[in-house]
Amino acid sequence: MTATATEASSGTASTFPIPAGVFAETVTEVQHYTDRLFRFRMTRPDGFRFRSGEFVMIGLPNAEKPVYRAYSIASPAWDEELEFFSIKVPGGPLTEHLQKIREGDTVLMRKKSTGTLVADALLPGKRLYLFSTGTGIAPFASVARDPDIYEKFEKVVITQTCRQLDELTYGQELVDKILSDELMSEFAGGKLLLHSTATREGPDKGERITNLIESGKLFSDLGLPPFDPETDRAMICGSMEMLKDTAAMMERFGLVEGSNSSPGTYVVERAFVD
Ligand code: A2P
Repeated sequence: MTATATEASSGTASTFPIPAGVFAETVTEVQHYTDRLFRFRMTRPDGFRFRSGEFVMIGLPNAEKPVYRAYSIASPAWDEELEFFSIKVPGGPLTEHLQKIREGDTVLMRKKSTGTLVADALLPGKRLYLFSTGTGIAPFASVARDPDIYEKFEKVVITQTCRQLDELTYGQELVDKILSDELMSEFAGGKLLLHSTATREGPDKGERITNLIESGKLFSDLGLPPFDPETDRAMICGSMEMLKDTAAMMERFGLVEGSNSSPGTYVVERAFVD
């Protein structure tokens, strides 16, 4: 017998069969931030394990052959649900439909998670910089909610750069929530820092994260010492261009790219959906 997606309230899902080998999960919450960004949560399949910072392939049961896109899991490994933070691309093969999902709808997820933005791919250090642009903050929303990271690092710094100020809300709410939560603040309090800036408006207009690192403004804003390759580690997630430029900067500082099989002093991953 083939499983079939239930009729979705948004009309995005239909009676197409659920393909074999994927999980069909139920949306539990949707929050829209801007006309370009939204977050959703869904049920977590029984027995599905992942490491904080990994990504999975997400699709919708709205076609014979669903379109899948890589999505970083934004929730931590201990969470009983899965959270995702997504861009909305007009005419985007997946996001055009995904942005219309509502509570109760079905989302498909391939069974294997993977990725390099994981603590295992980094050598020990003192300060961990999580450099993100746009929806690239998603994997760091997972990492920063994982108690393990605070055992490995004295400071965990999320930097979030978006085009507009209102695109920074997800990251700001995330960090506020962590630091005001009784349990999470126990491990993250005094260790987790957020630096958020917009490049097209507001006080930091025109300043990309690469400029802020180069000029040292990032570190003085945070009250931290200049970047120290001996003790500082980095994870980078954003567009191809942002990865290229930020990784080149890390290399100039003397950091070495790591992977799961060969841990290093920085790791990168593209924020996939476009
Ligand atoms: P900018 O406004 O100067 O283009 P996008 O939505 O295009 O992915 O951009 C998200 C953020 O990433 C924007 O603030 C954008 O700045 C910034 N950005 C784009 N390219 C780079 C890059 N090569 N290095 C650093 N930041 C970048």
